[in-house]
Amino acid sequence: MKKIHSDQYDITFGAEAYDYLGVMLNERAYSKIFLITDTVCNDACVPHFLANLPTNVAFEIIEIETGEEFKTMETAYSVWQALSELKADRQSVIITVGGGVVTDLGGFVAALFKRGIDCINIPTSLLAMVDASVGGKTGIDLDGIKNQLGTFTMPQNVLIDVRFLETLPAEQMRSGLAEMFKHGLIYDREYWEVLQHLSELTSDDLEDLIYHSVVIKNQIVQQDPKEQGLRKILNFGHTLGHAIESYFLNSDTRTTLLHGEAIAMGMILESYLSWKTGKLSEQEYYSIKTVLFDTFARIDLDPLEVEACLEWLQHDKKNALGIPQFVLLNTVGVAVINQVVSKDLILSSFEDYLS
Ligand code: GLY
Repeated sequence: MKKIHSDQYDITFGAEAYDYLGVMLNERAYSKIFLITDTVCNDACVPHFLANLPTNVAFEIIEIETGEEFKTMETAYSVWQALSELKADRQSVIITVGGGVVTDLGGFVAALFKRGIDCINIPTSLLAMVDASVGGKTGIDLDGIKNQLGTFTMPQNVLIDVRFLETLPAEQMRSGLAEMFKHGLIYDREYWEVLQHLSELTSDDLEDLIYHSVVIKNQIVQQDPKEQGLRKILNFGHTLGHAIESYFLNSDTRTTLLHGEAIAMGMILESYLSWKTGKLSEQEYYSIKTVLFDTFARIDLDPLEVEACLEWLQHDKKNALGIPQFVLLNTVGVAVINQVVSKDLILSSFEDYLS
């Protein structure tokens, strides 16, 4: 079985990972499993998961609505109520089966219920496999502000089964790819080169690529689990990306963007900032822009919408004294944290993106 060891837990891959998880559930003598999933995954993924899991521990399923707009305190509250009504105790374990919203919210619920119960993540989207389920960030949005409430709480195990991806819609696959591109751009030039030739890769290569992305993320998180410094590089593309995502999430006229769609746009904008502040070369910038536009459609914004997006920057968790701190690229594969740029330059990055 392929396995990546983290400080407090393992990330396990493939069909054999279910046996590993079954043994773990039995050895830890959990009183009950509370499976948290969403309406889509309850139909599409939970039957496969349960059919593969060798355990006699009793379980209950708690279902939440699908979508980022439900990653809220109201949803978390309803899950806590269900846990209480179903008599969950401190020996209970939460197993999240779903994409990033489910793993983030389920982890948050577990971290606070009775001061913390164990949580195991079964990511079913590419994005959750390569990013959300790994590294211990849990959270919910507050008034449309992304991940404003949350904890750093490591899961007990993450099980990655790429068979879940067979039914994943193409746009959700693309959304996950954005985070994989990010891993190459911030940490591993060779990986970035490999990802540029995705059309030549077969689906058999997918597990290896996911494995590689998780290795990168895990290496970064292990050095800085609570994001005091290095871990911030994982936020490349996210300063503007989260602002854009929040704008769409809260707009009456726009439909919600997928996280990866917003982050791909954020990475193009922040690569422009990297170039214009004398870090990334012009050639690297245009190469990144071309590769990302090959995968992600341009998102059109009018000038008023650009201003509205920039308003959301004030909520970024990396801000220092109210000033946004960007992660920029020195070159492909090398990121630099805590970079301040002028508003004019940010506006130019949008102009360049939209031109
Ligand atoms: N998703 C970024 C991080 O886990 O740090």
